[in-house]
Amino acid sequence: MIKGSRILITGGTGSLGYELTRQLCEHNEVVVYSRNEERQYEMQQQFKNKAVEFRIGDVKDRYTLEMAFTGCDIGIHAAAMKDLIMCEEQPTQCYLNNVEGSRSFIKAARNSSIKKAVGVSTDKAANPSSVYGASKYIMEKLFAEADQYSKTVFCSVRFGNMIDSRGSLITIWKENPDQEIKLTHKEVCRFFFSVYDGAQTVIQALELANGGDLLIKKMKKAKILDILKIITKRENIKVMGLFPGEKIYEDLVSENELSCCFEEDDYYRIRQGQINPNPPAMFNTRNAEAFTEDELTKLIYPE
Ligand SMILES: NC(=O)c1ccc[n+]([C@@H]2O[C@H](COP(=O)([O-])OP(=O)(O)OC[C@H]3O[C@@H](n4cnc5c(N)ncnc54)[C@H](OP(=O)(O)O)[C@@H]3O)[C@@H](O)[C@H]2O)c1
Repeated sequence: MIKGSRILITGGTGSLGYELTRQLCEHNEVVVYSRNEERQYEMQQQFKNKAVEFRIGDVKDRYTLEMAFTGCDIGIHAAAMKDLIMCEEQPTQCYLNNVEGSRSFIKAARNSSIKKAVGVSTDKAANPSSVYGASKYIMEKLFAEADQYSKTVFCSVRFGNMIDSRGSLITIWKENPDQEIKLTHKEVCRFFFSVYDGAQTVIQALELANGGDLLIKKMKKAKILDILKIITKRENIKVMGLFPGEKIYEDLVSENELSCCFEEDDYYRIRQGQINPNPPAMFNTRNAEAFTEDELTKLIYPE
Protein backbone atom coordinates (compact mmCIF):
# COMPACT_ATOMS: atom_id res chain seq x y z
CA MET A 1 0.00 0.00 0.00
CA ILE A 2 1.29 3.42 -0.98
CA LYS A 3 1.76 5.67 2.02
CA GLY A 4 2.71 9.29 2.55
CA SER A 5 2.31 10.43 -1.06
CA ARG A 6 0.44 13.30 -2.62
CA ILE A 7 -1.74 11.79 -5.34
CA LEU A 8 -3.70 13.61 -8.04
CA ILE A 9 -6.71 11.74 -9.44
CA THR A 10 -8.26 13.02 -12.67
CA GLY A 11 -11.92 12.05 -12.71
CA GLY A 12 -11.73 12.05 -8.91
CA THR A 13 -15.48 12.62 -8.56
CA GLY A 14 -16.39 9.58 -10.70
CA SER A 15 -17.27 6.14 -9.36
CA LEU A 16 -13.70 4.92 -9.45
CA GLY A 17 -12.18 8.28 -8.46
CA TYR A 18 -14.43 8.54 -5.41
CA GLU A 19 -13.53 5.04 -4.23
CA LEU A 20 -9.82 5.63 -4.89
CA THR A 21 -10.02 8.84 -2.86
CA ARG A 22 -11.75 6.97 -0.03
CA GLN A 23 -9.14 4.22 0.03
CA LEU A 24 -6.10 6.44 -0.45
CA CYS A 25 -6.88 9.43 1.77
CA GLU A 26 -6.25 7.57 5.03
CA HIS A 27 -2.49 7.49 4.42
CA ASN A 28 -1.96 10.02 1.64
CA GLU A 29 -2.93 13.49 0.46
CA VAL A 30 -5.34 13.33 -2.46
CA VAL A 31 -6.09 15.98 -5.08
CA VAL A 32 -9.44 15.42 -6.83
CA TYR A 33 -9.42 16.90 -10.33
CA SER A 34 -12.59 17.18 -12.47
CA ARG A 35 -14.88 19.73 -14.15
CA ASN A 36 -18.26 19.75 -12.43
CA GLU A 37 -18.46 22.07 -9.39
CA GLU A 38 -21.61 20.51 -7.97
CA ARG A 39 -20.14 17.02 -7.88
CA GLN A 40 -17.02 18.38 -6.23
CA TYR A 41 -19.11 20.25 -3.67
CA GLU A 42 -21.09 17.09 -2.82
CA MET A 43 -17.89 15.10 -2.46
CA GLN A 44 -16.25 17.83 -0.36
CA GLN A 45 -19.04 17.42 2.22
CA GLN A 46 -18.18 13.73 2.56
CA PHE A 47 -14.42 14.22 2.89
CA LYS A 48 -14.39 17.03 5.45
CA ASN A 49 -11.46 16.64 7.86
CA LYS A 50 -9.65 14.35 5.41
CA ALA A 51 -6.49 15.18 3.49
CA VAL A 52 -8.39 15.76 0.25
CA GLU A 53 -8.16 18.87 -1.95
CA PHE A 54 -10.49 19.69 -4.82
CA ARG A 55 -9.44 21.32 -8.09
CA ILE A 56 -11.79 22.26 -10.90
CA GLY A 57 -10.25 21.66 -14.29
CA ASP A 58 -10.46 19.92 -17.62
CA VAL A 59 -7.79 17.32 -18.41
CA LYS A 60 -7.36 18.99 -21.79
CA ASP A 61 -6.25 22.20 -20.02
CA ARG A 62 -2.60 21.40 -19.36
CA TYR A 63 -1.88 24.72 -17.60
CA THR A 64 -4.54 24.10 -14.91
CA LEU A 65 -3.53 20.46 -14.62
CA GLU A 66 0.13 21.43 -14.09
CA MET A 67 -0.86 23.81 -11.31
CA ALA A 68 -2.92 21.06 -9.66
CA PHE A 69 0.05 18.68 -9.93
CA THR A 70 2.20 21.02 -7.80
CA GLY A 71 3.75 19.02 -4.95
CA CYS A 72 2.30 15.70 -6.17
CA ASP A 73 4.30 12.45 -6.40
CA ILE A 74 1.73 10.27 -8.16
CA GLY A 75 -0.88 10.81 -10.88
CA ILE A 76 -3.88 8.57 -11.60
CA HIS A 77 -5.61 9.31 -14.89
CA ALA A 78 -9.21 8.08 -14.51
CA ALA A 79 -11.06 10.93 -16.28
CA ALA A 80 -12.74 9.79 -19.47
CA MET A 81 -15.78 9.96 -21.66
CA LYS A 82 -16.99 6.37 -21.35
CA ASP A 83 -20.55 6.02 -22.60
CA LEU A 84 -20.21 3.58 -25.50
CA ILE A 85 -23.11 4.97 -27.55
CA MET A 86 -22.25 8.66 -26.96
CA CYS A 87 -18.66 7.96 -27.98
CA GLU A 88 -19.92 6.30 -31.22
CA GLU A 89 -22.19 9.24 -31.96
CA GLN A 90 -19.75 12.00 -30.96
CA PRO A 91 -16.31 10.63 -31.81
CA THR A 92 -14.77 14.10 -31.85
CA GLN A 93 -15.59 14.62 -28.16
CA CYS A 94 -14.43 11.10 -27.32
CA TYR A 95 -11.15 11.72 -29.15
CA LEU A 96 -10.61 15.11 -27.51
CA ASN A 97 -11.39 13.86 -24.02
CA ASN A 98 -9.75 10.43 -24.04
CA VAL A 99 -6.84 10.90 -26.46
CA GLU A 100 -5.97 14.61 -26.31
CA GLY A 101 -6.88 14.62 -22.60
CA SER A 102 -4.42 11.77 -22.02
CA ARG A 103 -1.67 13.56 -23.97
CA SER A 104 -2.28 16.63 -21.87
CA PHE A 105 -2.10 14.53 -18.67
CA ILE A 106 1.18 12.96 -19.80
CA LYS A 107 2.76 16.34 -20.66
CA ALA A 108 1.64 17.86 -17.36
CA ALA A 109 2.91 14.85 -15.36
CA ARG A 110 6.30 15.06 -17.10
CA ASN A 111 6.60 18.81 -16.60
CA SER A 112 5.64 18.44 -12.93
CA SER A 113 8.26 15.71 -12.28
CA ILE A 114 5.61 13.26 -11.09
CA LYS A 115 7.34 10.01 -10.01
CA LYS A 116 4.72 7.55 -11.28
CA ALA A 117 1.58 7.93 -13.38
CA VAL A 118 -1.01 5.28 -14.21
CA GLY A 119 -3.64 5.45 -16.95
CA VAL A 120 -6.90 3.62 -16.26
CA SER A 121 -8.06 1.56 -19.21
CA THR A 122 -10.84 -0.86 -20.06
CA ASP A 123 -11.23 -4.30 -21.61
CA LYS A 124 -12.88 -2.49 -24.53
CA ALA A 125 -9.34 -1.40 -25.50
CA ALA A 126 -8.43 -5.03 -26.26
CA ASN A 127 -9.07 -5.66 -29.95
CA PRO A 128 -11.25 -2.53 -29.99
CA SER A 129 -14.50 -2.47 -31.94
CA SER A 130 -15.78 0.89 -30.71
CA VAL A 131 -14.66 4.52 -30.70
CA TYR A 132 -14.44 4.36 -26.89
CA GLY A 133 -12.32 1.19 -26.96
CA ALA A 134 -10.05 2.60 -29.67
CA SER A 135 -9.56 5.84 -27.71
CA LYS A 136 -8.50 3.86 -24.64
CA TYR A 137 -6.20 1.63 -26.71
CA ILE A 138 -4.44 4.78 -27.91
CA MET A 139 -4.26 6.04 -24.31
CA GLU A 140 -2.46 2.85 -23.27
CA LYS A 141 0.00 3.28 -26.13
CA LEU A 142 0.60 6.95 -25.27
CA PHE A 143 1.45 5.99 -21.68
CA ALA A 144 3.84 3.24 -22.83
CA GLU A 145 5.53 5.60 -25.30
CA ALA A 146 5.84 8.41 -22.74
CA ASP A 147 7.70 6.07 -20.39
CA GLN A 148 10.55 5.73 -22.90
CA TYR A 149 11.24 9.47 -22.95
CA SER A 150 10.65 10.54 -19.38
CA LYS A 151 11.92 10.27 -15.83
CA THR A 152 8.32 9.80 -14.77
CA VAL A 153 7.33 6.12 -14.74
CA PHE A 154 4.25 5.74 -16.95
CA CYS A 155 2.12 2.58 -16.89
CA SER A 156 -1.49 1.55 -17.48
CA VAL A 157 -3.98 -0.81 -15.93
CA ARG A 158 -6.84 -2.53 -17.77
CA PHE A 159 -9.93 -4.20 -16.36
CA GLY A 160 -13.58 -4.97 -17.18
CA ASN A 161 -16.85 -3.67 -15.79
CA MET A 162 -17.30 -2.29 -12.30
CA ILE A 163 -20.79 -3.63 -11.65
CA ASP A 164 -21.88 -0.84 -9.31
CA SER A 165 -20.41 2.14 -11.16
CA ARG A 166 -22.52 5.24 -11.79
CA GLY A 167 -24.50 5.16 -15.02
CA SER A 168 -23.98 1.44 -15.58
CA LEU A 169 -27.08 -0.31 -16.91
CA ILE A 170 -26.97 -2.76 -14.03
CA THR A 171 -27.11 0.08 -11.49
CA ILE A 172 -30.10 1.53 -13.39
CA TRP A 173 -31.88 -1.85 -13.63
CA LYS A 174 -31.35 -2.48 -9.90
CA GLU A 175 -33.00 0.84 -9.07
CA ASN A 176 -36.11 -0.09 -11.05
CA PRO A 177 -36.31 -3.85 -11.70
CA ASP A 178 -39.98 -3.68 -12.79
CA GLN A 179 -39.35 -1.43 -15.80
CA GLU A 180 -39.38 -2.89 -19.32
CA ILE A 181 -35.85 -4.12 -19.92
CA LYS A 182 -34.43 -5.13 -23.27
CA LEU A 183 -31.28 -7.12 -23.79
CA THR A 184 -29.09 -6.49 -26.85
CA HIS A 185 -28.15 -10.18 -27.32
CA LYS A 186 -28.75 -13.28 -25.21
CA GLU A 187 -25.12 -14.37 -25.34
CA VAL A 188 -23.52 -11.04 -24.34
CA CYS A 189 -20.94 -11.88 -21.70
CA ARG A 190 -18.75 -9.46 -19.72
CA PHE A 191 -16.07 -9.33 -17.05
CA PHE A 192 -17.22 -7.94 -13.71
CA PHE A 193 -16.05 -6.88 -10.30
CA SER A 194 -16.95 -4.17 -7.78
CA VAL A 195 -15.84 -0.52 -7.72
CA TYR A 196 -13.95 -1.45 -4.54
CA ASP A 197 -11.97 -4.05 -6.52
CA GLY A 198 -11.45 -1.54 -9.34
CA ALA A 199 -9.80 0.88 -6.92
CA GLN A 200 -7.72 -1.92 -5.38
CA THR A 201 -6.55 -2.92 -8.86
CA VAL A 202 -5.41 0.63 -9.66
CA ILE A 203 -3.55 0.86 -6.33
CA GLN A 204 -1.88 -2.52 -6.97
CA ALA A 205 -0.91 -1.38 -10.46
CA LEU A 206 0.80 1.66 -8.93
CA GLU A 207 2.87 -0.73 -6.85
CA LEU A 208 3.42 -3.59 -9.32
CA ALA A 209 3.68 -2.04 -12.78
CA ASN A 210 7.08 -1.15 -14.17
CA GLY A 211 7.62 1.66 -16.64
CA GLY A 212 5.79 1.03 -19.92
CA ASP A 213 3.82 -1.95 -18.53
CA LEU A 214 0.17 -2.55 -19.13
CA LEU A 215 -1.18 -4.57 -16.21
CA ILE A 216 -4.37 -6.53 -16.98
CA LYS A 217 -6.46 -7.91 -14.14
CA LYS A 218 -7.72 -11.50 -14.34
CA MET A 219 -11.47 -11.38 -13.76
CA LYS A 220 -14.51 -13.62 -13.75
CA LYS A 221 -17.25 -13.42 -16.37
CA ALA A 222 -21.05 -13.35 -16.32
CA LYS A 223 -23.76 -13.27 -18.99
CA ILE A 224 -25.86 -10.11 -18.86
CA LEU A 225 -28.91 -12.36 -19.23
CA ASP A 226 -28.03 -14.16 -15.99
CA ILE A 227 -27.60 -10.81 -14.21
CA LEU A 228 -30.97 -9.66 -15.51
CA LYS A 229 -32.65 -12.86 -14.32
CA ILE A 230 -31.29 -12.27 -10.80
CA ILE A 231 -32.41 -8.61 -10.79
CA THR A 232 -35.84 -8.96 -12.41
CA LYS A 233 -36.69 -12.54 -11.39
CA ARG A 234 -38.05 -12.88 -14.94
CA GLU A 235 -37.16 -15.61 -17.43
CA ASN A 236 -38.33 -13.93 -20.64
CA ILE A 237 -36.32 -10.84 -21.53
CA LYS A 238 -36.86 -9.09 -24.89
CA VAL A 239 -33.91 -8.90 -27.26
CA MET A 240 -33.29 -5.79 -29.41
CA GLY A 241 -29.98 -6.42 -31.22
CA LEU A 242 -26.42 -5.26 -30.62
CA PHE A 243 -25.49 -1.57 -30.55
CA PRO A 244 -22.92 -0.34 -33.08
CA GLY A 245 -19.49 -1.15 -31.66
CA GLU A 246 -20.88 -3.63 -29.11
CA LYS A 247 -19.30 -7.10 -28.96
CA ILE A 248 -20.89 -10.36 -27.81
CA TYR A 249 -17.68 -11.53 -26.18
CA GLU A 250 -15.08 -9.26 -24.57
CA ASP A 251 -11.32 -9.77 -24.58
CA LEU A 252 -9.03 -8.76 -21.75
CA VAL A 253 -5.92 -9.92 -23.59
CA SER A 254 -6.33 -9.95 -27.36
CA GLU A 255 -4.49 -12.04 -29.93
CA ASN A 256 -2.26 -9.21 -31.18
CA GLU A 257 -0.98 -8.64 -27.62
CA LEU A 258 0.04 -12.21 -26.84
CA SER A 259 3.61 -12.03 -28.08
CA CYS A 260 4.53 -9.43 -25.41
CA CYS A 261 2.25 -10.87 -22.73
CA PHE A 262 3.49 -12.49 -19.50
CA GLU A 263 1.10 -14.32 -17.18
CA GLU A 264 1.28 -13.84 -13.40
CA ASP A 265 -0.99 -15.08 -10.59
CA ASP A 266 -3.65 -12.34 -10.70
CA TYR A 267 -2.55 -10.34 -13.71
CA TYR A 268 -1.29 -10.40 -17.25
CA ARG A 269 1.57 -8.02 -17.92
CA ILE A 270 2.13 -6.60 -21.40
CA ARG A 271 5.76 -5.48 -21.67
CA GLN A 272 6.15 -3.25 -24.67
CA GLY A 273 8.79 -4.60 -27.04
CA GLN A 274 9.67 -7.67 -24.90
CA ILE A 275 8.84 -10.86 -26.72
CA ASN A 276 7.63 -13.84 -24.65
CA PRO A 277 8.73 -17.06 -26.40
CA ASN A 278 5.99 -18.96 -24.47
CA PRO A 279 3.04 -16.59 -24.51
CA PRO A 280 -0.17 -17.39 -22.62
CA ALA A 281 -3.48 -18.12 -24.37
CA MET A 282 -5.92 -15.33 -25.12
CA PHE A 283 -8.03 -14.30 -22.15
CA ASN A 284 -11.64 -13.45 -22.95
CA THR A 285 -15.22 -14.10 -21.92
CA ARG A 286 -15.21 -17.31 -23.96
CA ASN A 287 -12.52 -19.02 -21.91
CA ALA A 288 -12.54 -17.19 -18.54
CA GLU A 289 -14.02 -18.67 -15.39
CA ALA A 290 -17.69 -17.78 -14.79
CA PHE A 291 -19.25 -16.59 -11.53
CA THR A 292 -21.50 -19.12 -9.83
CA GLU A 293 -25.10 -17.90 -9.34
CA ASP A 294 -24.39 -17.38 -5.64
CA GLU A 295 -21.23 -15.34 -6.31
CA LEU A 296 -23.05 -13.25 -8.90
CA THR A 297 -25.95 -12.54 -6.55
CA LYS A 298 -23.49 -11.40 -3.85
CA LEU A 299 -21.71 -9.17 -6.38
CA ILE A 300 -24.99 -7.55 -7.47
CA TYR A 301 -26.37 -7.26 -3.92
CA PRO A 302 -23.40 -6.95 -1.56
CA GLU A 303 -24.30 -7.20 2.13
N1 LIG B 1 -17.07 2.00 -15.08
C1 LIG B 1 -16.49 0.89 -15.52
O1 LIG B 1 -17.09 -0.20 -15.48
C2 LIG B 1 -15.07 0.93 -16.04
C3 LIG B 1 -14.46 -0.25 -16.46
C4 LIG B 1 -13.13 -0.22 -16.93
C5 LIG B 1 -12.47 1.00 -16.99
N2 LIG B 1 -13.09 2.14 -16.61
C6 LIG B 1 -12.36 3.40 -16.70
O2 LIG B 1 -12.23 3.91 -15.38
C7 LIG B 1 -12.25 5.33 -15.42
C8 LIG B 1 -13.28 5.86 -14.45
O3 LIG B 1 -14.55 5.32 -14.78
P1 LIG B 1 -15.83 5.69 -13.91
O4 LIG B 1 -16.82 4.61 -14.09
O5 LIG B 1 -15.42 6.11 -12.54
O6 LIG B 1 -16.36 6.98 -14.70
P2 LIG B 1 -17.37 8.12 -14.23
O7 LIG B 1 -18.08 7.74 -13.01
O8 LIG B 1 -18.15 8.49 -15.46
O9 LIG B 1 -16.41 9.32 -13.88
C9 LIG B 1 -15.68 10.01 -14.85
C10 LIG B 1 -14.93 11.11 -14.15
O10 LIG B 1 -14.12 11.79 -15.10
C11 LIG B 1 -14.36 13.20 -15.01
N3 LIG B 1 -14.09 13.76 -16.33
C12 LIG B 1 -14.58 13.36 -17.52
N4 LIG B 1 -14.06 14.11 -18.50
C13 LIG B 1 -13.19 14.98 -17.91
C14 LIG B 1 -12.36 16.02 -18.40
N5 LIG B 1 -12.30 16.33 -19.69
N6 LIG B 1 -11.61 16.71 -17.52
C15 LIG B 1 -11.64 16.42 -16.19
N7 LIG B 1 -12.42 15.45 -15.67
C16 LIG B 1 -13.20 14.75 -16.53
C17 LIG B 1 -15.81 13.30 -14.53
O11 LIG B 1 -16.11 14.51 -13.87
P3 LIG B 1 -16.64 15.82 -14.61
O12 LIG B 1 -17.63 15.38 -15.64
O13 LIG B 1 -17.17 16.68 -13.52
O14 LIG B 1 -15.41 16.43 -15.23
C18 LIG B 1 -15.81 12.17 -13.51
O15 LIG B 1 -15.20 12.61 -12.32
C19 LIG B 1 -12.49 5.73 -16.87
O16 LIG B 1 -11.25 6.05 -17.44
C20 LIG B 1 -13.05 4.47 -17.51
O17 LIG B 1 -12.72 4.39 -18.87
C21 LIG B 1 -14.38 2.14 -16.12
